[in-house]
Amino acid sequence: MDLLTELESLIPELAKGLDQASSLQDLEALRVDFLGRKGRIARIMARLPELGPEERPRLGQAANSVKERLTQLFDERKTALVAAAEAASLARFDAGLPGRLPWRGSKHPITLVTEEICSVFRQLGYEVVSGPEVETEYYNFEALNIPPDHPARDMQDTLYVSDGIVLRTHTSPMQARVMLARKPPVAVIAPGRVYRRDSDITHTPMFHQVEGLLVDSHVTMADLRGTLTAFTRAVFGSDTRVRFRPSFFPFTEPSAEVDISCCMCGGKGHDGGATCRVCKGTGWLEILGCGMVDPEVFKAVGYDPEQVSGFAFGMGMERIAMLKYGIGDLRMFFENDVRFLGQFAGRFA
Ligand code: FA5
Ligand code: MG
Repeated sequence: MDLLTELESLIPELAKGLDQASSLQDLEALRVDFLGRKGRIARIMARLPELGPEERPRLGQAANSVKERLTQLFDERKTALVAAAEAASLARFDAGLPGRLPWRGSKHPITLVTEEICSVFRQLGYEVVSGPEVETEYYNFEALNIPPDHPARDMQDTLYVSDGIVLRTHTSPMQARVMLARKPPVAVIAPGRVYRRDSDITHTPMFHQVEGLLVDSHVTMADLRGTLTAFTRAVFGSDTRVRFRPSFFPFTEPSAEVDISCCMCGGKGHDGGATCRVCKGTGWLEILGCGMVDPEVFKAVGYDPEQVSGFAFGMGMERIAMLKYGIGDLRMFFENDVRFLGQFAGRFA
């Protein structure tokens, strides 16, 4: 066989080899065998001196075009093999299988309760406002008729930031802030964090309150009772027992505290034997303090106590969430255990 025929026969031979190649490794072996430095084309070309001078250029040209053709065949086969490999791996992937569900967050029970309370009071015509957690002693105490040497300052263990500056011990400073900024009538609620040196299963050093304030002409204690009763019914249902107990706050007169039947023992005070840890055997849990705004507070903000009257209340969100969801230890709200928090998923209002 002459060299030219031998050269051209490489094309069908490679085509056959490529047909049988089933992997990229097979392909590479063929490439080395045909086009490599010591491959079949190279070996044919090494025999060029066997030819006469007039035949050599023809063989050189033929070698180039055969090389080109072989390269083209390789590329085609390679593309096909790569595509086949991709298709095979896609065939193992079932797009119809359900995916792994991402973790869904849920609102914190305190957030849920706060939103619910705000919504109840919005329906009663109240506006939701907020104010600073780092507060001056003036707003936290003086404006609320609690002078510096007043024993009432000991009612709440205060955390001081610096001289004259405290972490607010209650949301009541919002009463003074709102009244100083507005003319009556006023109907606001102010949710937020408050801080005290306090810690056991019904007390934590940081907790949440919602302050309520209504000022208008002719507001009476009956309005206060009616409003708070409507509120407890809306949040806890009409079966919950509520009691108003006379109490004292320097900024309200008269004052009361409101208790709700205990969530843990159902108001019995014990679980059949042991004394209930949550209500300490009383069957009741205090949720808020309230009263008629003291004339001294009106004077401090420039309202005329002869012209207006009003009521205020401050409730503990954690207590309300405990009662509403039957949670036995206040501290669970602050541990951020997802097994606890996850139970509130889907309770979106
Ligand atoms: C006050 O803070 C008054 N400012 C409430 C008030 C407002 C009275 C307006 C009159 C007019 P007291 O300290 O009782 O009051 O707290 C109010 C509520 O916060 C309590 O009924 C209780 O539900 C909750 N609370 C009090 N201390 C803690 C605590 N350490 N941890 C969790 N909740 C608490
Ligand atoms: Mg109290």
